[in-house]
Amino acid sequence: MKYFFHEDTDKLHVNTEPNRNYFIPFSNTLDPFADRENSDRFLLLNGNWNFRYYSSFLDVEEEFLTTEYKDMIPVPSNWQLHGYDNPMYLNIRYPIPYNPPYVPDENPVGIYNRIFSVSLTEGYEQFLNFEGVDSCFYLYINDTFVGYSQVSHMTSEFNITKYLTDGENSITVMVLKWCDGTYLECQDKWRMSGIIRDVYIITRPRKRISSYQVITAYDTVKNRVNLEVTVKTNTPVKAVLYDREGRELTETSVNEGKAVFEIASPRCWSAEKPYLYKLVLKTQEETIGEKIGVRDIRLEQGCVLINGTAVKFKGVNRHDSNPVTGAYITKENMLEDLLLMKQHNINAIRTSHYPNAPVFLQLCDELGFYVIDEADIEAHGSVEASHTTDNNGDYSGIALLANRKEFEKPIFDRIDLMISRDWNRPSVIFWSMGNESGYSKAFEKAARYIKSVDSTRLVHYQSMHELEGSEKAADNEETLDVVSTMYSAPDWIEKEFLTKAGEKRPFILCEYCHSMGNGPGDLEEYWKLFYAHDRLCGGFVWEWCDHGVDMGKADNGKTKYAYGGDHNEPLHDGNFCIDGLVYPDRRPHTGLMEVKNVYRPIRVNPIFTQKGVYEFFNTNDFTELSENLTCRYEVTEKGKVILIGTLELHVPAKTKKLITIPELAGLTGESLYVRFIFTQIKDTVWSKAGFEAGFDQIAISESKRKLIPDKSENALDLNEDDRWIKISGNRFHYCFDKRRGLFGEMVYDNIKLIEKPMEFNAFRAPTDNDCAVKNDWYKFHLNELITKVYAMDARKTENYIEITGHAALGWYAYHNTFELFLHIYVYGSGQVKFESQVKVADKRPYLPRFGLRLFMDSSFSKVEYYGYGNMESYVDKHRASYKGIFMDHISEMQEDYIKPQENGSHYGCEYVKIGNGKAALRVESEADFSFNASEYSQEELALKAHNYELEKSGFSILCVDYKQSGIGSTSCGPQLAEVYRFQEKEFNLSFLFSPGNS
Ligand code: GAL
Ligand code: MG
Repeated sequence: MKYFFHEDTDKLHVNTEPNRNYFIPFSNTLDPFADRENSDRFLLLNGNWNFRYYSSFLDVEEEFLTTEYKDMIPVPSNWQLHGYDNPMYLNIRYPIPYNPPYVPDENPVGIYNRIFSVSLTEGYEQFLNFEGVDSCFYLYINDTFVGYSQVSHMTSEFNITKYLTDGENSITVMVLKWCDGTYLECQDKWRMSGIIRDVYIITRPRKRISSYQVITAYDTVKNRVNLEVTVKTNTPVKAVLYDREGRELTETSVNEGKAVFEIASPRCWSAEKPYLYKLVLKTQEETIGEKIGVRDIRLEQGCVLINGTAVKFKGVNRHDSNPVTGAYITKENMLEDLLLMKQHNINAIRTSHYPNAPVFLQLCDELGFYVIDEADIEAHGSVEASHTTDNNGDYSGIALLANRKEFEKPIFDRIDLMISRDWNRPSVIFWSMGNESGYSKAFEKAARYIKSVDSTRLVHYQSMHELEGSEKAADNEETLDVVSTMYSAPDWIEKEFLTKAGEKRPFILCEYCHSMGNGPGDLEEYWKLFYAHDRLCGGFVWEWCDHGVDMGKADNGKTKYAYGGDHNEPLHDGNFCIDGLVYPDRRPHTGLMEVKNVYRPIRVNPIFTQKGVYEFFNTNDFTELSENLTCRYEVTEKGKVILIGTLELHVPAKTKKLITIPELAGLTGESLYVRFIFTQIKDTVWSKAGFEAGFDQIAISESKRKLIPDKSENALDLNEDDRWIKISGNRFHYCFDKRRGLFGEMVYDNIKLIEKPMEFNAFRAPTDNDCAVKNDWYKFHLNELITKVYAMDARKTENYIEITGHAALGWYAYHNTFELFLHIYVYGSGQVKFESQVKVADKRPYLPRFGLRLFMDSSFSKVEYYGYGNMESYVDKHRASYKGIFMDHISEMQEDYIKPQENGSHYGCEYVKIGNGKAALRVESEADFSFNASEYSQEELALKAHNYELEKSGFSILCVDYKQSGIGSTSCGPQLAEVYRFQEKEFNLSFLFSPGNS
């Protein structure tokens, strides 16, 4: 028998149990804190199930319950990853026509079935739990209809006792791809379906606890806690409290629905010190274990205080996402993410944009993370649906769906489900009512309800926009505890938010530093500002991982990760799902390294370097520096270590301390840097003793270098014709192309230094964050400039040959973009001093870069440089790198972004040398410069859609640049900050090229 609840917002759940907090009972003889698989009351139904797929609900035959199955599918999984239907990646638009509460007739269906065994015991009942089914499902036990439920990322529980027989039983689950709930699940994700989380049965006595809520009231003044457990039960309950190690503290019984404990001098829970007490609730027939964190959350003077301290959220947004299993995430997957986050100084997570499986929050409790727990609500598609023809980035339609009367109940339902499931989790600091759905009466009502049920946490909701003409919700100041925005520029926060009259609330960036592709470049700016104001309590980077679907290996051995469009979706959002800090397989991007060092626990500032005075700022909120960390320093002169030492540092949390280090006083030399490196003293769950937590590098003296060419060798020959200036010395001959204004040939010791004529280079393969400006780069064809040489002359002096020239670079239709005044000196040693004054025409975009490009033989693969390394670095993205001498193989210098783009450059360089074992070319400059050495051309990087399609150029391509623009995070964030734009109208490109032997 088929039912039709899935287009009815009044029928969200049929025959499900009342909402309750998550717990798994054990029988009284077992340890209730063991993993749930160890409970004798827990039967996991994961595994291979029978499966049948229909492309439309209409095709499901009346007698579907008895139709034979031919296929099997793993549970949990997404059926799109098992050969049925196709994955679809969509961000801000609805994947179905906007017609709430209706969904298309072509509504794919998966029917799941299996046999399982239970032995029924008198006095006990069986509860079937689904932790997540996308998008809705009808449940049948032994071919009898049991019920219906929806909300993809939430638990649905059914009492199935009366449908069961002792021994073998069958379960059939009909899952639909779309339902009315789809209108509230327009999250930026792969739209995939199925039973996506664990399915299990728990066996419970008829006399039992149905739910309980733990409230810890921590009196920070008296330093004591009143721990109150409200229990709904139809049987007596004994409550025992233990400390973390399992020592019994007190015991009481539940009286009139309450058990109350007092803990004097409690150990508090925080992300830094996640101390958990253990509470055991025992009835005659079962035991429930609950871990309890004592912590106090409050708002005071516009700050979020945890245990009395204004904390900072060093956060990240995390989706459930796996390249192979899609939306199904194992506990091991979660742990992998969380340990990586710990290693990278992340202390806060927003579960964007739906609640994670219950075990995720338990792991956050244990490891220590502050969590914004977000309800499974997003109606982003409302914007496009309400504008249809006139959407120019206007957001005014966002509350279209949230304003519909019939969606008030579903909105409430989703929020209520979340809070009643998770209200005992200490890691949850904020309840978030969802994402990008606008503000309406429905949200106002839900917010008031949250406060009435749980006054111990804060209510968060970023989407404060209302729909014009709708019934106005009350002022959100009454309902929302923090002001939360996404992607606001530091400038806006400082000038608009902090100065806004009447606004007293704390501020959170629930999304910032969009990490798509090469990026983000703007982290440090935000943190300088956050540390300056207690009201700014931090931010959550968007986002943790790239969501690529693993399509197997390409011939070159690389994994093929699919993004939007790779499954021929009728509608998709391209590579917007490839916007994380880790690759789909969890290898960190350089962006994650950047996050790590911007989120570093200790910051060092120079106060008076000549006297060895430095300020150490402990950015931890609760941990004294020496509890965890020790410091060593190394001083380098021109990249060579000249001094090392260790420091005994004691700096209380959230405190700055001036420290004089006599060994660092009075140091003289050129290009002197000190690097303070902080390492962990002890082993932790996520790292070994000695693990590096962060560093700061500070310049003691910058280099003032004067490059003096070697003039000792004077044998020089000059030959000139209309096209070429030919110069030779004892060990080299160079041909200078008068029509290009650059060398066409350079041979040293009979080895060709360049395989193609040198080029002026004003282009980079656009990064995702260059999305806005790149159109202008292409408009002026910075990628293929046309040269005009007005004059090019050579003359020989005693020591050198001088070429002077005047040229321009441009493109059809416009005035030339660059005007060049060249001065090139060639010395008997083969050295070339290259100088060009460059003038940039008006009305041009800021530039990606300007420099020279050399195509060298691919044998030139050994790269040595003195600059910011060893990972890629840019003017605004170099916090994870430091200035040093690094050696690398060119093949290792590519940061292989899934969608190819500019990568692997090095900022702040004094020299780079590239060699092949016989010959080498050294390039240096009196001003710090940027370089890039790659096997791939920028044209190839710009052209190809996926990294596995990239073909090597066959050359070692060396780009040396006067400058490159910064990286920023414009793919969703603010425009690149002015200071990081390369927009000088006049500059000097100047390099000394020295050929030699490597
Ligand atoms: C935000 C949204 C995220 C994500 C991001 C772009 O507006 O909340 O879910 O779509 O933009 O990557
Ligand atoms: Mg969205």
